[in-house]
Amino acid sequence: MTLAEKQVREIALENPSTSRVFEHFGIDYCCGGHKPLSAACLENNLSVDEVLAAIENLAHTTPGTAEEWSTRPLAELAEHIVWKHHGYIRKEFPRLRQLAEKVVARHGEHCAELAQIQSNLESLGDELLAHIQKEEIVLFPYIVKLEKAQLAGGGLPLGCFSSVLQPIHVMLSEHDSAGLLSARIRELSTDFNPPEWACPTYRAFYAGLREFVEDLHRHIHLENNILFPKALEIEKALS
Ligand SMILES: [Fe+2]
Ligand SMILES: [Fe+2]
Repeated sequence: MTLAEKQVREIALENPSTSRVFEHFGIDYCCGGHKPLSAACLENNLSVDEVLAAIENLAHTTPGTAEEWSTRPLAELAEHIVWKHHGYIRKEFPRLRQLAEKVVARHGEHCAELAQIQSNLESLGDELLAHIQKEEIVLFPYIVKLEKAQLAGGGLPLGCFSSVLQPIHVMLSEHDSAGLLSARIRELSTDFNPPEWACPTYRAFYAGLREFVEDLHRHIHLENNILFPKALEIEKALS
């Protein structure tokens, strides 16, 4: 059986990431998903090939590929973090929030943990949106200035703090808070494993949460273990 002949619901159950594609094209993959993908496309005036290509492309857009950043310029790393990880949070958090609303509305009465997951997700998303804005407006531009000054053989650039350690401390403590909220979500969702009877939306929600937390770990690793220590080293060398 080809993918186009499979039921939309089955595709979403086998690979919850495909829910992104179905949401993008407005294809019902949950209660109304008992029809072949080709029929669902026809019903929605969509090209089957285009939808299949988007599913195929998912493998290439999964966040967070393992890359060696420790020898690359900090300006490049900061740009990568903003583009890949901050962009991912801005795009993915609203989607997860919508999925949480749907799942809580349908199953919240019988699964008390769903409302708790939703509340922790709201806190995590709100904190992260404020956090990444501070990095983009204050810290990252200063780190780029530090690196430029080092390359030009100049002195310490002017900043709105006495040492880059100050904003880094704030960012580190916010990373810890995000880590605690993520751990709580993992615990409440029994390690992102939905119950046997869970519908495709429920599964897509848990799979999305797993990806979100995994991407956050890669993101924080790049900042805590590469970007921030290197910025501190440069500042020390310039002082
Ligand atoms: Fe960040
Ligand atoms: Fe950060």
